[in-house]
Amino acid sequence: MTDSSDVDLAAAVPLDHAQAAEQVRQLTDRILELRDAYYERNTSLVSDEEYDDLQHRLAALERQYPDLQSQDSPTLTVGGAADRSSFAPVTHAERMLSLDDVFSIEELDGWALRTQRALGDTHFHYLTELKIDGLAINLRYEHGRLVSAATRGDGVVGEDVTENVRTISAVPFELAGTGHPDVVEVRGEVFFNVADFHALNTRLADAGRKTFANPRNAASGSLRQKDPRVTAERPLTMLVHGLGAWPDAPVRRQSEIYQLFAEWGLPVSKHNRVLDSLEQVHAFIDRNGAERAQIEHEIDGVVVKVDELALHSQLGATSRAPRWAVAYKYPPEQVNTKLLDIRVGVGRTGRVTPYAVVEAVHVAGSTVRQATLHNQEIVKAKGVLIGDTVVLRKAGDVIPEILGPVTELRDGTERAFVMPEHCPECGARLAPSKPGEIDVRCPNTRSCPAQVAGRIEHLASRAGLDIEGLGEVAAVALTHPLAPAHPPLTTEAGLFDLQLADLFPVRVQVTDPETGLPKLTDEGEPDIRTPFRRLRRRDDPEHVPDGPFDGDEFAVPSELAHKMLANIEAAKTRPLWRLLVALNIRHVGPVAARSLAQAFRSLEAIRSADVAQLAEVDGVGPVIAEALIEWFTVDWHQEIIDRWTSAGVVWGDAEAAADDVPKPLAGLSVVVTGTVPGHTRESAQEAVIALGAKAASSVSKKTFAVVYGDGAGSKLAKAEQLGVPLVAAERFAEFLADPQGVVAQVAAQSADPAADGQQQ
Ligand code: IVH
Repeated sequence: MTDSSDVDLAAAVPLDHAQAAEQVRQLTDRILELRDAYYERNTSLVSDEEYDDLQHRLAALERQYPDLQSQDSPTLTVGGAADRSSFAPVTHAERMLSLDDVFSIEELDGWALRTQRALGDTHFHYLTELKIDGLAINLRYEHGRLVSAATRGDGVVGEDVTENVRTISAVPFELAGTGHPDVVEVRGEVFFNVADFHALNTRLADAGRKTFANPRNAASGSLRQKDPRVTAERPLTMLVHGLGAWPDAPVRRQSEIYQLFAEWGLPVSKHNRVLDSLEQVHAFIDRNGAERAQIEHEIDGVVVKVDELALHSQLGATSRAPRWAVAYKYPPEQVNTKLLDIRVGVGRTGRVTPYAVVEAVHVAGSTVRQATLHNQEIVKAKGVLIGDTVVLRKAGDVIPEILGPVTELRDGTERAFVMPEHCPECGARLAPSKPGEIDVRCPNTRSCPAQVAGRIEHLASRAGLDIEGLGEVAAVALTHPLAPAHPPLTTEAGLFDLQLADLFPVRVQVTDPETGLPKLTDEGEPDIRTPFRRLRRRDDPEHVPDGPFDGDEFAVPSELAHKMLANIEAAKTRPLWRLLVALNIRHVGPVAARSLAQAFRSLEAIRSADVAQLAEVDGVGPVIAEALIEWFTVDWHQEIIDRWTSAGVVWGDAEAAADDVPKPLAGLSVVVTGTVPGHTRESAQEAVIALGAKAASSVSKKTFAVVYGDGAGSKLAKAEQLGVPLVAAERFAEFLADPQGVVAQVAAQSADPAADGQQQ
């Protein structure tokens, strides 16, 4: 089997006639091959995007050399020849056309402009619908009774799937109401709602059967079953989207046909809209694109139609598609790519999870190189082998997921994934999380660099010590350096002892996420970075002559190094609850930590408490209490406390002292919006909470004060409207020292703007 790389898609250079003829031949063969797989074997060998690309290339060449367009070119025909081996052929009373696609708003506007030009001054309406990714069907009703249902096939002859369609509850056997024409052909799409598709796949997987890669394949596979009883078990549904044969239909607009269909009990989409202007069409596309993940069925675009039926005949059709409609395609959310490898990652708690390394693909607005695989059972259930072409799906912000392999493309070189026996980070022998469990973990909790890096990143996060500059990159650099030989941090115990000199030599090697091999620079050298220092030119006016010289350049600590060390220093006096979060005790997050800190006031008191005393605390309970007791029994945990203490960490004294100071804002609510210089949003909120206030997220009449800085938005406007006292961020320190005084001042000023001479 060829793959799409056999066809040189990149050829943008002008071709002579012979070269063009060769390309037309290659493109035609490839498209027909892909159509065959898609329509006959319910398999997508390439992404929709790649397929559309091939079609476009062919159409462009045929425009350039019209004599190369054969009568049966894929640009003139509809894919999907009828499967005559299993289903009786049905010749459609009226051809079933496809739709021309556009992939951008500009192209859509081009179609609208051509349409308007062709219609002169005639005003028309746009009928906009969602494009459902399913299977087209033609339903023939005679005297109100369903007599035949056929797939599209090649547009002229389809397959008789009447018996199977009769099992779909959305398709009425008999039309409701009265006055049905002798013959009417209704067109629509047979498909699965997303929820039903997942339920079906779960059922198939539970029965040890092959699952479907997407709802479209599932719909096609379920409808084209030889035994209608199998179709009956599949919750297929249908929505109408057009009219076939109905001579002299007594309606003027397609939307009116839909009304009539609805009265007859046929399923009409609730998403259809009749719109007046192209702007409204754009908005329809935008809205549905944004809400795509919430729609009950999969969509791959929006269909824009001219609503007036008289104009349909005026505009006509090509042999493939009508000119009165067009399909706007959203960027695909599902693509095919190569599964290059399955590796395992080690998390903060030592859990080992397989993940897929795939050939980079663009999907749902981003480039994907990796996809999660959760655990080895899931790898098995999905049936993927390393080397497979796989279907990858990504919806919006959701983590990319591998749906399954395209087994037709296997060539025998694929191999199964085997869970490693040793931790890829530290070499320790992996063990089940609990006896008999599938999940495995690295037992080297203390020193596995991946676990240490994970814990450091967590302890420095906003929910913990809030150490700016110590994020994932710095945590990895401190625990996985190429040089020096020993990492600056082998556990978090040394965090508060870090010195500039420890950071300076740190060099890390960047690895290529696709291959796992060292990444190379443009010059072909290994990509080695020094995150904590940077090079300055010797003639730099800010020359600080304390680093090693290297030719015309000298090294100085990077901003990251300075910032991070200053922030680590400041973290020594963070409130007790933050330090508790930083200890990475199982189940102890900010909420439990706050309760513990408030109840016990010092780490010593927490350590001395027994399970019952701990469990008694609001929001703690027996599970967290046990986890705390267990944590204190581990020797290297004690080492963390000891070393942090010797480095100057204050375990609770500051907090306890703060608790004793008066709370001038007790019971009042304060909103902080925009930037407060010298603070993060969280630290500003912490500061008002420390004075007893509630840091509210929305403004009401009862809000005591709104502290506003740069970037403040609607909350400021609302506060102004409600007459809530406004405190400029520059006065925040003053406000903390004397909140009542500052609020009284600003209130007086807003009542009498002349008082501070700022009246405009
Ligand atoms: S109208 C002559 N409307 O998309 C126009 N088609 O890519 C016929 N489709 O063959 C189609 N949703 O199977 C129309 N709202 C919709 C649609 C829709 C899905 C399918 C249909 C068609 C294919 C073209």
